[in-house]
Amino acid sequence: MRVQDKVAIVTGASSGFGRATSVRLAQEGARIVIADLDEAGGEETARQVKAAGSEAELVVGDISALAGARTAVERAVARFGRLDVLVNNAGIAQTDAHDTWDAPEETWDRVIRVNLRSVYACSKAAIPVMLARGSGSVISVASIAASVCVGGCAYGATKGAILSYTRHVARELAARGVRVNCVSPGYMRTPMSSGERLGLSAEEQEARLDSFGQRVPMQRTGSVDDIANAILYLASDEAAYVTGQEIVVDGGYLIR
Ligand SMILES: NC(=O)c1ccc[n+]([C@@H]2O[C@H](COP(=O)([O-])OP(=O)(O)OC[C@H]3O[C@@H](n4cnc5c(N)ncnc54)[C@H](O)[C@@H]3O)[C@@H](O)[C@H]2O)c1
Repeated sequence: MRVQDKVAIVTGASSGFGRATSVRLAQEGARIVIADLDEAGGEETARQVKAAGSEAELVVGDISALAGARTAVERAVARFGRLDVLVNNAGIAQTDAHDTWDAPEETWDRVIRVNLRSVYACSKAAIPVMLARGSGSVISVASIAASVCVGGCAYGATKGAILSYTRHVARELAARGVRVNCVSPGYMRTPMSSGERLGLSAEEQEARLDSFGQRVPMQRTGSVDDIANAILYLASDEAAYVTGQEIVVDGGYLIR
């Protein structure tokens, strides 16, 4: 068991990477706090965590608001008595197709709020609990969009900012037992990238994922478990000497 008895908050755990990460951490012994706006999806993740032999607490709320982030942390401590891992995973796509610099103000603010402010809010709420015990691991989900031009400029700006945030906070906390890292997925198979959230049919989703896969040196999109496994490593004590890093999981996209 690689994360036996640890307690992890996973934001955006009702879907995609968040669900897969919750289940993977549970398989390796962690207890999970599912923090998401989507109650039905969260209940399904909780069912899968329990089926993996662990326990889950579902906290429905907006983790981009400090109040929502604090509630998730309080519920983790109340239910399980500790907090070891924070996975800042919740995020949304920028759906403007062209001239994303010219996005409506509301789109810009929403993408920044959900993707970036959430990282600040959840970390601000969780890190004091970790510092009190002298250990912890914060893992944020960034993207290859931090480094190359995919996904639009507001989206890319949030992901680039997560890299910078990760390095700054990792440096500040390195001597105090809390590690801070991020994972950057490439083209992956989730409801966000398939176009399910845009209302595409099953065939259209497959065609879209196929076309993404053709751009990747490994000639395929990645799976949610590819990301869950990278997060598991960073959450575990195997990564005890790793902080301030970005692990890119992209089938070779950035080096093509
Ligand atoms: N799918 C990809 O190919 C890909 C690639 C690179 C990076 N990412 C990043 O991975 C992360 C997860 O993406 P995914 O593909 O699993 O997405 P997804 O759409 O499947 O899941 C995102 C989850 O976040 C939740 N959420 C959104 N706003 C929230 C809020 N304010 N408060 C609480 N929960 C909220 C949603 O309800 C949903 O359950 C995101 O940060 C995304 O930017 C995804």
